[in-house]
Amino acid sequence: MTRIVSGVKPTGHLTLGNYLGVLRRWAAADQDRGEALFCVVDLHALTVEHDPARVRRLSRQAATLMLAAGLDPARCTVFLQSHVDEHARLPYLLECVAVDGGMRRMIQYREKSARARAAGQSVRLSLLTYPVLMAADILAYRADEVPVGEDQTQHVELTRELAERFNQRYGRTFVVPRATRPAVAARVMDLRDPLVKMGKSHEATAGIVYLLDEPETVARKARRAVTDSGPGVSYEPGTRPGVAHLLEILSACTGAAPEKLAAAYNGDGALKAAVAEAVVELLRPLRARHAELSADPGYVDAVLREGAARARALARPTVDAAYAAIGLLPPV
Ligand code: TYM
Repeated sequence: MTRIVSGVKPTGHLTLGNYLGVLRRWAAADQDRGEALFCVVDLHALTVEHDPARVRRLSRQAATLMLAAGLDPARCTVFLQSHVDEHARLPYLLECVAVDGGMRRMIQYREKSARARAAGQSVRLSLLTYPVLMAADILAYRADEVPVGEDQTQHVELTRELAERFNQRYGRTFVVPRATRPAVAARVMDLRDPLVKMGKSHEATAGIVYLLDEPETVARKARRAVTDSGPGVSYEPGTRPGVAHLLEILSACTGAAPEKLAAAYNGDGALKAAVAEAVVELLRPLRARHAELSADPGYVDAVLREGAARARALARPTVDAAYAAIGLLPPV
């Protein structure tokens, strides 16, 4: 049976990018295509300056949103990464097959470490080793597929390399996974800057649609999206990225092709109004379900408890096998 693993990190409120890039298809397809595990990767939220109380709040909120988006504990496993020790046991072994230069070349490390230095902050060592932790999240479960957005491609590539190197040196222990991406919305862009990814931890929030934004806020953000002064509406990602991006969001909401949608609008005002309405309607049931689930924290706790137990049972034998393969004696 195909094993599917993915996660979301609680570094900010989840965005439309997270929903269209992953959450929606985890719920619509991935959870029924095999043995699927989805986790809130809370350890990953500690790689940059953080407020412990906020991480706790956001972890719970992310788990609740995953359930609100339609993940069903009867069909998949939902859990918090830090509840399963295997996620912390495996990375050190993978660090012993990773090389320093490769880690420093990771795009997210280069960008985030430059940002931290510019803000006069020190760079945590965990920011450098973070992709190894992500590799462990995946390899511990012998995942075949990793459904992610485009920005995670490099990390899944590294995961594949580490798995192959480990297997070659110490014997076949891990499955070499592959990333899967959505057909549209693999990279939802910031509404105020169509050249920058919509990211939940960015400071400027005017172009970011959060899943729990009020409908009026969502509509305002869509109406104020940056486009260009070109005539009419056409789908030309290279030269008209703002308009193209709105068409892609609308396409992700409606299922119609961006080129076809372009022909239906004669100005970007009408397009923005259509995007506003489509996104508000897309998020309406999610918000409602989130409100219901938030009123029942005991249910969410029970899901996470059972999820962690299931995840632990799946990860343990693989991590034990990796310990044995690399030359560590089992406990006596
Ligand atoms: P994170 O928390 O940044 O994002 C969670 C998932 O959402 C996707 N995503 C997007 N997709 C389309 N457009 C966007 N604007 C957008 N923003 C985010 C991401 O590609 C991601 O799939 N390192 C990961 C979390 C992680 C993980 C894992 C994922 C840790 N361990 C193991 C898969 C398997 C991250 O930072 O995702």
